[in-house]
Amino acid sequence: MEYKLRKAEPRDVSDILRLVKELAKYEEMEDQVTLTEKELLEDGFGDTPFYHCIIAEIQGENSSDDAKVVGFAMYYFTYDPWVGKQLYLEDFYVMEEHRGLGIGSELLRHLSDLAMKTRCNGMMFVVAENNEPSVQFYKRRGAEDLSQEEGWRLFRFDKNSLVKMATPAEE
Ligand code: COA
Repeated sequence: MEYKLRKAEPRDVSDILRLVKELAKYEEMEDQVTLTEKELLEDGFGDTPFYHCIIAEIQGENSSDDAKVVGFAMYYFTYDPWVGKQLYLEDFYVMEEHRGLGIGSELLRHLSDLAMKTRCNGMMFVVAENNEPSVQFYKRRGAEDLSQEEGWRLFRFDKNSLVKMATPAEE
């Protein structure tokens, strides 16, 4: 089956949210997805996009069929004060029935080309510890496991902690 990669457009937000939820379900954390299509639209397609997406789609069997979105990579740019620009791969997913056809590798190739063009020094991402197939998928392509090799730990301040630290709102 032929597939094509392209940059996400505003009309893709419902497919993006669908795939975000499928990936969260795969990671057994679907109930944690609270994001809405409206937020995806505002956050990715306004004056200052907070994320970008590459969409993988396949054409239906008949040329009159709509193309179907079957995978995506969500990314943004970050900055490492030691080495400079980095690409951050936030979400990466191909629907189960379309895996093993090279779509994931092609998405990574696309992001690697982009990283080279923008002079990024690396691509960072987080993988759930129990997602062994993906750990192996990344390792086969040369990724290093920094938690193991350098001992980094992943932290977050949740919204409650931020509210406590933030300047109290004026009455
Ligand atoms: N399902 C998964 N992988 C399969 C497969 C199947 N049915 N059949 C074969 N494979 C093998 C391929 O041979 C290939 O091996 P290689 O690493 O030696 O090349 C690899 O698995 C898949 O490569 P490719 O076809 O390029 O990628 P993909 O389109 O299957 O996408 C993922 C890769 C990781 C995006 C996809 O497996 C996925 O969505 N996984 C579930 C979600 C996930 O874990 N995302 C990453 C979160 S960090």
